[in-house]
Amino acid sequence: MKKVLSLVLAVLMLATLLVGCGAKSGLDAIKSSGKLTVYTEAGFAPYEFYYNNEIVGVDMEIMKAVAAKLGVEMTVTDVAFDTIVSGVQAGKANCGAAGMTINDERKESVDFSIPYSSTEQYLIVPAADETMKTVEDLKGKNIGVQEGTTSDFLISDLIADKTLDGTGLTVYKSPAAAAAVIGTKVDAVVTDKLTAEIIVSNNTGLKTFALVKADGTVAQEVEEYGICVAKGNEDLLAVINEVIEGLLKDGTIEKWVTEFSAKATEVGA
Ligand code: ARG
Repeated sequence: MKKVLSLVLAVLMLATLLVGCGAKSGLDAIKSSGKLTVYTEAGFAPYEFYYNNEIVGVDMEIMKAVAAKLGVEMTVTDVAFDTIVSGVQAGKANCGAAGMTINDERKESVDFSIPYSSTEQYLIVPAADETMKTVEDLKGKNIGVQEGTTSDFLISDLIADKTLDGTGLTVYKSPAAAAAVIGTKVDAVVTDKLTAEIIVSNNTGLKTFALVKADGTVAQEVEEYGICVAKGNEDLLAVINEVIEGLLKDGTIEKWVTEFSAKATEVGA
């Protein structure tokens, strides 16, 4: 009888353990591991870039604040930008923090926080160039973009719908890598506003401005950045949203944008 009882007890304990694990929310798992894991692509100042061999930037500050709120440590991994959504979806990291534009396509795979920054698409061209001022001027030119970004999708779509006939598109690992070959491999680069402005201030002979159509309308609507988490990870998302809300309200995010733009210019990121 004793044996049977202890067997029943053991089975019960195992069952509780298994149910406990299965039901363990994303948040509990993070707390018990002591780590909040973050995927980024660190070639995107002022949101993420290398400074003294460390990944710093606005996104890192946001995620550190979330980790602090959870009482855990943030660990960040630098991956190719176009692998962040699938990585977070597969649970390889708890969050993606990468100046990532919230859009419907990505929303099919991951959930997004409330927006914390916004951007528009900018064109980087040689400072002396007078030929590329609007979207239509990019016909027949070679454009560089960071792979899997909204800049990549914008130009790909314009090529596909024949607005940009004969335009070449080359993808690079980062906007700065694309900008480094302006005048040799590409004629111009398209990327998000602040990143474009930092690249231009770090490199002589380039200029940047908003990418508009010949009729003066924007090439693409304003984009908003969000932190992404695995679908249905509501409790983690709630904490992230609460943290972002506070940081927006007291102007901290704005302050970080200024601070890290200056830092990025200092190190030429
Ligand atoms: N906002 C753009 C997008 O979502 C570009 C983001 C690039 N971010 C980065 N960390 N490289 O596609």
